Amino acid sequence: MGIRRSPRAVSVETVKSGDPRGLPTSGGAGTQCVNVIPLRECADLCGFFAPHFAAEWPDWYGPGRRGDAVADLDACANRAGQLPLGVVAVDAGGAPIGIAALKPTSIDTYTHVGPWAVAGYIIPDRRRGGVGALLLSALSVEACRLGFQAIYCATVGAASLLEREGWRQIDAVAHDGGTQRIFRRTLPGPG
Ligand SMILES: CC(C)(COP(=O)(O)OP(=O)(O)OC[C@H]1O[C@@H](n2cnc3c(N)ncnc32)[C@H](O)[C@@H]1OP(=O)(O)O)[C@@H](O)C(=O)NCCC(=O)NCCS
Repeated sequence: MGIRRSPRAVSVETVKSGDPRGLPTSGGAGTQCVNVIPLRECADLCGFFAPHFAAEWPDWYGPGRRGDAVADLDACANRAGQLPLGVVAVDAGGAPIGIAALKPTSIDTYTHVGPWAVAGYIIPDRRRGGVGALLLSALSVEACRLGFQAIYCATVGAASLLEREGWRQIDAVAHDGGTQRIFRRTLPGPG
């Protein structure tokens, strides 16, 4: 698993933050008036995102499949703020826009490092506005809070987003009949 530093409060320099937890409150052009809240502080939104997960990933979360979206989301809302955890983007009126999670492991062929940015999901009509990048930054803040030095992400389709956000590809692995690209983001050091 990933190496931890002593837990401490940090902010990610690339985004503004007026949030007392250090979570980003604005990023790209499409994120004005978007706030990021830990899922543990808005656990009622698990029920909002569960059907979205089933529609986006029907092979895993669809009817009769192995995945349980409600259970996975509930686990990420633990009040202790430990892994697994979730972060939620909400608009100025508090309506949910997107979610992302940080978990100890992701794909079963790559279990020796962590934690992992997973379950990035933005509602379709708010995509390509920078909310996904904002949530990745929020996960970095949360990982720093927990003392990690780096976070990882396995993706097929979001590689360009990760590269733009300063993640570095470290590997590519066969997974589910395809190729997953493995990315790593080094987190800000103490100081
Ligand atoms: C992947 C996903 C989370 C990205 O969320 P998003 O909010 O669209 O992400 P961003 O807006 O930060 O970035 C997406 C793209 O929009 C671009 N973008 C960001 N702000 C923009 C703006 N104001 N105008 C135009 N383009 C913009 C980004 O540069 C990025 O481009 P790239 O993919 O060519 O690098 C979202 O598409 C999604 O929910 N997909 C379905 C689920 C999924 O595939 N999850 C990923 C699992 S690994």
